[in-house]
Amino acid sequence: MTGGGQAASFVRDGEGGGSWGNRGSPTFADVVSSAVIRRAAMVKMVVIAALAALVATLVAVLIRWLPESASEEMDRITFVYWFATIICIGIFALVAAVIIEAVWAFRVQPDDDTDGPPIHGNTRLEIAWTIVPAILVIAIGVVSAVVLSKNADAGSNPLHVKVFAQQFAWRFEYPGKVMSDELVMPLHRNVKFEMQSADVIHSLWIPQMGQKQDVVPGITTEIVITPTRTGTFTLICTELCGLGHATMRAPVRVLDQPAFQAWLAKQRSAGGAGGATSGAAGGQTGGATSDTSALGKTTFASAGCGGCHTFTPAGTDAQVGPDLDNLAADAKAAGEPVADYVRQSIVDPNAVIAKGYQPNVMPPTFGDTLKPDELDALVAYLSGKGAS
Ligand code: CUA
Repeated sequence: MTGGGQAASFVRDGEGGGSWGNRGSPTFADVVSSAVIRRAAMVKMVVIAALAALVATLVAVLIRWLPESASEEMDRITFVYWFATIICIGIFALVAAVIIEAVWAFRVQPDDDTDGPPIHGNTRLEIAWTIVPAILVIAIGVVSAVVLSKNADAGSNPLHVKVFAQQFAWRFEYPGKVMSDELVMPLHRNVKFEMQSADVIHSLWIPQMGQKQDVVPGITTEIVITPTRTGTFTLICTELCGLGHATMRAPVRVLDQPAFQAWLAKQRSAGGAGGATSGAAGGQTGGATSDTSALGKTTFASAGCGGCHTFTPAGTDAQVGPDLDNLAADAKAAGEPVADYVRQSIVDPNAVIAKGYQPNVMPPTFGDTLKPDELDALVAYLSGKGAS
Protein backbone atom coordinates (compact mmCIF):
# COMPACT_ATOMS: atom_id res chain seq x y z
CA MET A 1 0.00 0.00 0.00
CA THR A 2 1.41 3.34 -0.98
CA GLY A 3 1.51 6.20 1.45
CA GLY A 4 -1.05 8.92 1.43
CA GLY A 5 1.57 11.59 0.85
CA GLN A 6 2.79 10.08 -2.40
CA ALA A 7 -0.69 9.79 -3.75
CA ALA A 8 -1.51 13.27 -2.66
CA SER A 9 1.48 14.55 -4.59
CA PHE A 10 0.15 12.80 -7.68
CA VAL A 11 -2.96 14.87 -7.29
CA ARG A 12 -1.54 18.11 -6.10
CA ASP A 13 1.95 18.71 -7.42
CA GLY A 14 1.21 18.98 -11.09
CA GLU A 15 3.75 16.30 -12.15
CA GLY A 16 0.83 14.24 -13.23
CA GLY A 17 1.06 10.54 -13.81
CA GLY A 18 4.83 10.67 -13.81
CA SER A 19 5.02 9.88 -10.15
CA TRP A 20 3.25 6.56 -10.79
CA GLY A 21 5.80 5.47 -13.36
CA ASN A 22 8.15 3.72 -10.90
CA ARG A 23 5.55 1.39 -9.49
CA GLY A 24 3.39 0.59 -12.50
CA SER A 25 -0.28 1.39 -12.94
CA PRO A 26 -2.24 2.21 -9.82
CA THR A 27 -5.44 0.33 -9.32
CA PHE A 28 -8.71 2.07 -8.62
CA ALA A 29 -8.33 0.80 -5.07
CA ASP A 30 -4.99 2.63 -4.75
CA VAL A 31 -6.56 5.84 -5.91
CA VAL A 32 -9.60 5.47 -3.73
CA SER A 33 -7.84 4.29 -0.61
CA SER A 34 -4.90 6.62 -0.75
CA ALA A 35 -6.16 9.80 -2.31
CA VAL A 36 -9.83 10.16 -1.61
CA ILE A 37 -10.42 8.28 1.55
CA ARG A 38 -8.41 10.52 3.71
CA ARG A 39 -10.05 11.99 6.72
CA ALA A 40 -10.23 15.51 5.27
CA ALA A 41 -11.73 14.26 2.04
CA MET A 42 -14.26 12.20 3.96
CA VAL A 43 -15.29 15.20 6.03
CA LYS A 44 -15.68 17.27 2.86
CA MET A 45 -17.79 14.56 1.22
CA VAL A 46 -20.03 14.26 4.27
CA VAL A 47 -20.56 18.03 4.24
CA ILE A 48 -21.35 18.01 0.50
CA ALA A 49 -23.70 15.05 0.96
CA ALA A 50 -25.50 16.81 3.82
CA LEU A 51 -25.91 19.97 1.70
CA ALA A 52 -27.14 17.97 -1.32
CA ALA A 53 -29.59 16.07 0.88
CA LEU A 54 -30.80 19.32 2.42
CA VAL A 55 -31.42 20.94 -0.98
CA ALA A 56 -33.19 17.83 -2.30
CA THR A 57 -35.28 17.57 0.87
CA LEU A 58 -36.33 21.23 0.61
CA VAL A 59 -37.35 20.70 -3.02
CA ALA A 60 -39.34 17.62 -1.99
CA VAL A 61 -41.00 19.19 1.06
CA LEU A 62 -41.50 22.87 0.22
CA ILE A 63 -43.05 22.43 -3.23
CA ARG A 64 -46.59 21.09 -3.00
CA TRP A 65 -46.28 18.31 -5.54
CA LEU A 66 -49.47 16.43 -4.67
CA PRO A 67 -52.99 17.58 -3.84
CA GLU A 68 -54.20 17.02 -0.29
CA SER A 69 -55.34 13.41 -0.03
CA ALA A 70 -59.05 12.65 0.13
CA SER A 71 -59.00 8.84 0.01
CA GLU A 72 -57.36 5.84 1.66
CA GLU A 73 -55.92 4.86 -1.72
CA MET A 74 -54.31 8.29 -2.16
CA ASP A 75 -52.78 7.97 1.34
CA ARG A 76 -51.08 4.72 0.28
CA ILE A 77 -49.96 6.16 -3.06
CA THR A 78 -48.49 9.16 -1.24
CA PHE A 79 -46.62 6.76 1.07
CA VAL A 80 -45.06 5.03 -1.95
CA TYR A 81 -44.00 8.41 -3.35
CA TRP A 82 -42.30 9.37 -0.09
CA PHE A 83 -40.71 5.95 0.36
CA ALA A 84 -39.12 6.21 -3.09
CA THR A 85 -38.29 9.90 -2.66
CA ILE A 86 -36.39 9.37 0.62
CA ILE A 87 -34.32 6.60 -0.98
CA CYS A 88 -33.66 8.86 -3.98
CA ILE A 89 -32.54 11.72 -1.74
CA GLY A 90 -30.05 9.42 0.04
CA ILE A 91 -28.60 8.10 -3.23
CA PHE A 92 -28.55 11.59 -4.77
CA ALA A 93 -26.62 12.98 -1.79
CA LEU A 94 -24.06 10.15 -1.95
CA VAL A 95 -23.53 10.46 -5.71
CA ALA A 96 -23.39 14.27 -5.60
CA ALA A 97 -20.76 14.14 -2.83
CA VAL A 98 -18.51 11.68 -4.65
CA ILE A 99 -18.82 13.50 -7.99
CA ILE A 100 -18.21 16.99 -6.61
CA GLU A 101 -15.29 15.89 -4.43
CA ALA A 102 -13.77 13.83 -7.26
CA VAL A 103 -14.11 16.64 -9.82
CA TRP A 104 -12.48 19.04 -7.37
CA ALA A 105 -9.70 16.82 -5.98
CA PHE A 106 -8.68 15.25 -9.26
CA ARG A 107 -9.04 18.30 -11.50
CA VAL A 108 -6.25 18.58 -14.05
CA GLN A 109 -3.43 21.07 -13.46
CA PRO A 110 -2.79 23.74 -16.12
CA ASP A 111 0.49 22.18 -17.30
CA ASP A 112 -0.61 18.57 -17.08
CA ASP A 113 -1.07 16.98 -20.49
CA THR A 114 -0.49 13.38 -19.45
CA ASP A 115 -3.10 10.62 -19.56
CA GLY A 116 -4.86 9.67 -16.38
CA PRO A 117 -3.83 6.43 -14.67
CA PRO A 118 -5.47 3.31 -16.14
CA ILE A 119 -7.94 1.89 -13.67
CA HIS A 120 -9.15 -1.70 -13.62
CA GLY A 121 -11.92 -1.36 -11.14
CA ASN A 122 -12.62 -2.52 -7.62
CA THR A 123 -14.53 -5.76 -7.16
CA ARG A 124 -15.75 -5.04 -3.67
CA LEU A 125 -17.01 -1.59 -4.66
CA GLU A 126 -18.76 -2.97 -7.74
CA ILE A 127 -20.47 -5.70 -5.75
CA ALA A 128 -21.61 -3.13 -3.22
CA TRP A 129 -23.02 -0.73 -5.80
CA THR A 130 -24.83 -3.58 -7.50
CA ILE A 131 -26.32 -5.18 -4.39
CA VAL A 132 -27.40 -2.02 -2.57
CA PRO A 133 -29.45 -0.56 -5.47
CA ALA A 134 -30.89 -4.03 -6.18
CA ILE A 135 -32.13 -4.23 -2.58
CA LEU A 136 -33.57 -0.71 -2.79
CA VAL A 137 -35.33 -1.34 -6.10
CA ILE A 138 -36.75 -4.62 -4.79
CA ALA A 139 -37.96 -2.81 -1.66
CA ILE A 140 -39.73 -0.17 -3.79
CA GLY A 141 -41.21 -2.95 -5.92
CA VAL A 142 -42.51 -4.88 -2.88
CA VAL A 143 -44.00 -1.77 -1.27
CA SER A 144 -45.66 -0.80 -4.59
CA ALA A 145 -47.08 -4.32 -5.06
CA VAL A 146 -48.56 -4.31 -1.54
CA VAL A 147 -50.13 -0.88 -2.15
CA LEU A 148 -51.49 -1.93 -5.57
CA SER A 149 -53.05 -5.00 -4.02
CA LYS A 150 -54.57 -3.08 -1.09
CA ASN A 151 -55.86 -0.33 -3.39
CA ALA A 152 -57.64 -2.91 -5.56
CA ASP A 153 -59.33 -4.55 -2.56
CA ALA A 154 -62.96 -3.45 -2.36
CA GLY A 155 -63.60 -5.24 0.93
CA SER A 156 -66.71 -7.27 1.68
CA ASN A 157 -69.40 -4.61 1.29
CA PRO A 158 -68.53 -2.01 -1.33
CA LEU A 159 -70.99 0.40 -2.89
CA HIS A 160 -71.22 -0.58 -6.54
CA VAL A 161 -71.34 2.31 -9.00
CA LYS A 162 -71.49 1.74 -12.73
CA VAL A 163 -69.68 4.35 -14.79
CA PHE A 164 -70.61 5.08 -18.39
CA ALA A 165 -68.12 7.17 -20.31
CA GLN A 166 -68.65 8.57 -23.78
CA GLN A 167 -67.40 11.54 -25.76
CA PHE A 168 -67.55 13.81 -23.72
CA ALA A 169 -69.51 13.02 -20.61
CA TRP A 170 -69.69 10.78 -17.55
CA ARG A 171 -72.83 9.13 -16.19
CA PHE A 172 -73.12 7.11 -13.00
CA GLU A 173 -75.59 4.39 -12.09
CA TYR A 174 -76.30 3.58 -8.44
CA PRO A 175 -78.05 0.49 -7.06
CA GLY A 176 -81.75 0.64 -7.92
CA LYS A 177 -81.04 2.01 -11.44
CA VAL A 178 -80.52 5.53 -10.14
CA MET A 179 -78.76 7.54 -12.83
CA SER A 180 -76.74 10.65 -12.06
CA ASP A 181 -74.47 12.97 -13.94
CA GLU A 182 -72.87 13.93 -10.64
CA LEU A 183 -70.67 11.45 -8.75
CA VAL A 184 -71.75 11.32 -5.11
CA MET A 185 -69.81 9.09 -2.70
CA PRO A 186 -70.34 8.13 0.96
CA LEU A 187 -67.56 8.89 3.43
CA HIS A 188 -65.36 5.98 4.60
CA ARG A 189 -67.04 3.39 2.43
CA ASN A 190 -65.35 1.43 -0.35
CA VAL A 191 -66.85 2.52 -3.66
CA LYS A 192 -66.26 0.05 -6.45
CA PHE A 193 -66.57 1.49 -9.94
CA GLU A 194 -67.44 -0.77 -12.87
CA MET A 195 -66.68 1.24 -15.95
CA GLN A 196 -67.74 1.00 -19.58
CA SER A 197 -67.07 3.19 -22.59
CA ALA A 198 -69.48 3.73 -25.47
CA ASP A 199 -66.83 4.86 -27.92
CA VAL A 200 -63.10 5.39 -27.32
CA ILE A 201 -60.70 5.03 -24.39
CA HIS A 202 -61.32 7.45 -21.54
CA SER A 203 -59.71 7.46 -18.11
CA LEU A 204 -61.24 8.19 -14.73
CA TRP A 205 -59.23 10.30 -12.30
CA ILE A 206 -60.04 12.41 -9.27
CA PRO A 207 -56.67 13.99 -8.42
CA GLN A 208 -57.24 14.16 -4.65
CA MET A 209 -58.20 10.47 -4.62
CA GLY A 210 -55.16 9.18 -6.48
CA GLN A 211 -56.70 6.21 -8.25
CA LYS A 212 -56.69 6.36 -12.05
CA GLN A 213 -58.10 3.78 -14.43
CA ASP A 214 -58.74 3.62 -18.17
CA VAL A 215 -62.29 3.05 -19.43
CA VAL A 216 -61.91 0.85 -22.48
CA PRO A 217 -64.65 0.07 -25.04
CA GLY A 218 -65.64 -3.61 -25.10
CA ILE A 219 -64.54 -4.49 -21.56
CA THR A 220 -65.49 -3.51 -18.03
CA THR A 221 -62.66 -2.05 -15.99
CA GLU A 222 -62.75 -1.60 -12.23
CA ILE A 223 -61.33 0.70 -9.62
CA VAL A 224 -61.89 1.23 -5.87
CA ILE A 225 -62.01 4.57 -4.08
CA THR A 226 -62.58 5.04 -0.34
CA PRO A 227 -63.18 8.72 0.49
CA THR A 228 -61.67 10.02 3.74
CA ARG A 229 -63.09 13.54 3.82
CA THR A 230 -66.25 15.27 2.71
CA GLY A 231 -66.16 18.01 0.12
CA THR A 232 -66.47 18.75 -3.57
CA PHE A 233 -63.97 17.55 -6.13
CA THR A 234 -63.72 17.18 -9.90
CA LEU A 235 -63.52 13.98 -11.85
CA ILE A 236 -61.50 14.50 -15.01
CA CYS A 237 -60.95 12.41 -18.08
CA THR A 238 -57.22 11.88 -18.32
CA GLU A 239 -57.01 10.04 -21.65
CA LEU A 240 -56.99 12.18 -24.81
CA CYS A 241 -60.34 11.11 -26.31
CA GLY A 242 -61.21 13.72 -28.92
CA LEU A 243 -61.88 17.40 -29.44
CA GLY A 244 -63.95 17.73 -26.26
CA HIS A 245 -61.49 15.83 -24.04
CA ALA A 246 -60.61 18.88 -21.95
CA THR A 247 -64.29 19.46 -21.17
CA MET A 248 -64.97 15.86 -20.10
CA ARG A 249 -65.38 16.45 -16.40
CA ALA A 250 -67.93 15.60 -13.75
CA PRO A 251 -68.62 17.12 -10.36
CA VAL A 252 -67.84 14.91 -7.36
CA ARG A 253 -69.32 15.24 -3.88
CA VAL A 254 -68.40 13.22 -0.79
CA LEU A 255 -71.16 13.14 1.84
CA ASP A 256 -71.25 11.51 5.26
CA GLN A 257 -73.21 8.26 5.36
CA PRO A 258 -76.64 9.64 6.48
CA ALA A 259 -76.47 12.48 3.94
CA PHE A 260 -75.50 10.03 1.22
CA GLN A 261 -78.40 7.70 2.05
CA ALA A 262 -80.75 10.69 2.01
CA TRP A 263 -79.39 11.76 -1.38
CA LEU A 264 -79.78 8.25 -2.80
CA ALA A 265 -83.34 7.93 -1.45
CA LYS A 266 -84.23 11.29 -2.98
CA GLN A 267 -82.83 10.25 -6.35
CA ARG A 268 -84.83 6.99 -6.20
CA SER A 269 -88.06 8.78 -5.39
CA ALA A 270 -87.33 11.34 -8.11
CA GLY A 271 -88.10 8.59 -10.59
CA GLY A 272 -84.99 6.55 -11.34
CA ALA A 273 -84.33 6.54 -15.06
CA GLY A 274 -83.74 10.00 -16.43
CA GLY A 275 -84.25 11.53 -13.02
CA ALA A 276 -80.65 12.59 -12.81
CA THR A 277 -80.51 16.06 -11.42
CA SER A 278 -77.66 17.94 -9.87
CA GLY A 279 -79.29 20.65 -7.89
CA ALA A 280 -79.81 23.32 -10.51
CA ALA A 281 -82.49 21.49 -12.46
CA GLY A 282 -84.06 19.67 -9.54
CA GLY A 283 -86.92 20.51 -7.29
CA GLN A 284 -89.64 21.46 -9.72
CA THR A 285 -92.64 19.25 -10.17
CA GLY A 286 -95.33 20.32 -12.55
CA GLY A 287 -97.14 19.35 -15.71
CA ALA A 288 -95.80 17.17 -18.53
CA THR A 289 -94.22 20.17 -20.26
CA SER A 290 -91.94 21.10 -17.40
CA ASP A 291 -91.02 17.42 -16.89
CA THR A 292 -89.96 17.20 -20.53
CA SER A 293 -88.16 20.50 -20.23
CA ALA A 294 -86.28 19.33 -17.15
CA LEU A 295 -85.39 16.01 -18.78
CA GLY A 296 -84.19 17.81 -21.91
CA LYS A 297 -81.99 20.04 -19.82
CA THR A 298 -80.50 17.22 -17.73
CA THR A 299 -79.97 15.10 -20.85
CA PHE A 300 -78.14 18.01 -22.48
CA ALA A 301 -75.88 18.13 -19.42
CA SER A 302 -75.42 14.39 -18.85
CA ALA A 303 -74.79 13.61 -22.51
CA GLY A 304 -72.07 16.24 -22.51
CA CYS A 305 -73.53 18.38 -25.33
CA GLY A 306 -72.19 21.52 -23.66
CA GLY A 307 -68.66 20.15 -23.96
CA CYS A 308 -68.71 21.00 -27.65
CA HIS A 309 -71.68 23.30 -28.33
CA THR A 310 -72.73 26.81 -27.46
CA PHE A 311 -76.36 26.84 -26.26
CA THR A 312 -77.50 29.93 -24.41
CA PRO A 313 -80.45 28.32 -22.51
CA ALA A 314 -77.97 25.82 -21.00
CA GLY A 315 -75.32 28.48 -20.41
CA THR A 316 -72.63 26.75 -22.50
CA ASP A 317 -70.20 28.47 -24.84
CA ALA A 318 -67.97 25.76 -26.34
CA GLN A 319 -67.10 26.07 -30.01
CA VAL A 320 -66.01 22.59 -31.05
CA GLY A 321 -69.29 21.98 -32.87
CA PRO A 322 -71.96 24.22 -34.43
CA ASP A 323 -73.65 26.92 -32.34
CA LEU A 324 -76.99 25.45 -31.20
CA ASP A 325 -78.48 28.92 -30.83
CA ASN A 326 -78.56 28.99 -34.64
CA LEU A 327 -80.45 25.71 -35.13
CA ALA A 328 -83.46 27.37 -36.76
CA ALA A 329 -81.28 28.98 -39.44
CA ASP A 330 -79.28 25.77 -39.96
CA ALA A 331 -82.51 23.74 -40.35
CA LYS A 332 -83.79 26.26 -42.87
CA ALA A 333 -80.54 25.99 -44.82
CA ALA A 334 -80.92 22.20 -44.82
CA GLY A 335 -84.57 22.54 -45.87
CA GLU A 336 -85.94 20.58 -42.92
CA PRO A 337 -88.28 21.32 -40.00
CA VAL A 338 -86.24 22.23 -36.94
CA ALA A 339 -87.23 19.20 -34.83
CA ASP A 340 -86.45 16.76 -37.65
CA TYR A 341 -83.14 18.46 -38.34
CA VAL A 342 -82.17 18.35 -34.65
CA ARG A 343 -83.11 14.68 -34.26
CA GLN A 344 -81.23 13.72 -37.42
CA SER A 345 -78.16 15.68 -36.30
CA ILE A 346 -78.11 13.85 -32.94
CA VAL A 347 -78.71 10.33 -34.27
CA ASP A 348 -76.79 10.64 -37.56
CA PRO A 349 -74.35 13.55 -37.12
CA ASN A 350 -72.77 13.13 -40.57
CA ALA A 351 -76.07 13.49 -42.48
CA VAL A 352 -75.72 17.26 -42.70
CA ILE A 353 -72.45 18.98 -41.87
CA ALA A 354 -72.87 22.63 -40.93
CA LYS A 355 -70.75 25.06 -42.91
CA GLY A 356 -67.25 25.40 -41.47
CA TYR A 357 -67.29 22.10 -39.56
CA GLN A 358 -65.79 18.64 -40.17
CA PRO A 359 -67.56 15.29 -40.44
CA ASN A 360 -66.79 12.46 -37.96
CA VAL A 361 -66.13 14.77 -35.02
CA MET A 362 -69.43 14.25 -33.20
CA PRO A 363 -69.87 10.67 -31.89
CA PRO A 364 -72.51 8.78 -33.92
CA THR A 365 -73.53 6.80 -30.81
CA PHE A 366 -76.10 9.05 -29.18
CA GLY A 367 -78.98 7.29 -30.95
CA ASP A 368 -77.98 4.15 -29.02
CA THR A 369 -76.88 5.62 -25.70
CA LEU A 370 -79.81 7.96 -25.11
CA LYS A 371 -83.11 6.46 -24.01
CA PRO A 372 -86.09 7.29 -26.32
CA ASP A 373 -87.68 9.67 -23.82
CA GLU A 374 -84.31 11.38 -23.26
CA LEU A 375 -83.86 11.80 -27.01
CA ASP A 376 -87.39 13.21 -27.42
CA ALA A 377 -86.85 15.60 -24.53
CA LEU A 378 -83.47 16.69 -25.87
CA VAL A 379 -84.90 17.34 -29.34
CA ALA A 380 -87.72 19.38 -27.82
CA TYR A 381 -85.28 21.27 -25.59
CA LEU A 382 -82.96 22.14 -28.49
CA SER A 383 -85.84 22.98 -30.85
CA GLY A 384 -87.15 25.48 -28.37
CA LYS A 385 -90.45 23.61 -27.89
CA GLY A 386 -89.91 22.30 -24.40
CA ALA A 387 -88.05 25.36 -23.20
CA SER A 388 -89.63 27.14 -20.29
CU1 CUA B 1 -62.71 11.22 -22.35
CU2 CUA B 1 -60.66 12.45 -22.53
